[in-house]
Amino acid sequence: MTKGIILAGGSGTRLNPITQVVSKQLLPVFDKPMIYYPLTTLMTAGIKEVLIISTPHDMPRFKQLLGDGHQWGISIEYSTQNKPDGIAQAFLIGEKFINNQNSCLILGDNLFYGSNLEEYLKKTKMRNNGATIFSYPVNNPTRYGVVQCDRLGKPISIEEKPKIPKSNNIVTGLYFFDNNVIEVAKSIKPSLRNELEISSVNEIYLNQQNLHVEKFNEDFIWLDMGTHDSLLEAGQIVKKIETSTNSKIGCPEEIAWRKKWINSMQLEGLAYELKNDYGEYLKKLLT
Ligand code: TTP
Repeated sequence: MTKGIILAGGSGTRLNPITQVVSKQLLPVFDKPMIYYPLTTLMTAGIKEVLIISTPHDMPRFKQLLGDGHQWGISIEYSTQNKPDGIAQAFLIGEKFINNQNSCLILGDNLFYGSNLEEYLKKTKMRNNGATIFSYPVNNPTRYGVVQCDRLGKPISIEEKPKIPKSNNIVTGLYFFDNNVIEVAKSIKPSLRNELEISSVNEIYLNQQNLHVEKFNEDFIWLDMGTHDSLLEAGQIVKKIETSTNSKIGCPEEIAWRKKWINSMQLEGLAYELKNDYGEYLKKLLT
């Protein structure tokens, strides 16, 4: 079984003043709160046990929004991160939750969309050993973790925010790890910016020849929704996709129902609670 972790803390500096009093991952992305998108990515992977990590200040709002997950046939637990000490700290905070299982970590501000996403996720989840990261080509790689692969797609280097990037393939905020990740995360030291870097964890797996890279190509949609421009762009993309396909993306009710984690009566109940177009959409699924 793979356990899912959503990292939804951080400081949201790039989105200030919007994030001065509201958590970034609760902001609207067209018709849903941002966290619905990473949550449904985990659900698409078939992950039913999820831990949400956020700040002590923001945690009550997440609990109010998502509850214990039973409404969508999943289980949601919560743990706080007192300070944004780095992405890799998720495995120290989540140690008990992960227990002896594999885990999938997703950043709470990452949007993934593509017709082949489910296939990618299923294939990756079946790989029981090592770590898997997902790369995506961008024009401005210096802001991210950058992965360089050889001709066969095997990773050669991983660098966090390099001044001179060795490729334009960046590491997106979705990672699958075997159970060793807990020990690996315990072994790394904070970086110069004083964070436990996920790139340091990935580098250890790379050195052990145990890091796999799945490549998303340009047709795939990946966005880090953490800037004013990308937040707006994400909302516009979601609206465009939903209008053109006449269906919703990032919709936990629909995914839970399609996966038979909830039955039609439960979906109907959820639909009636939402007295708007969203609710009408859920009702229409049933007809
Ligand atoms: P970032 O976007 O790198 O950081 P941030 O959210 O604090 O935003 P900014 O750079 O504008 O200050 O973080 C990526 C995701 O990981 C985001 O969802 C927040 C989360 N995160 C944590 O929850 N804890 C952490 O210690 C870090 C570094 C990030």
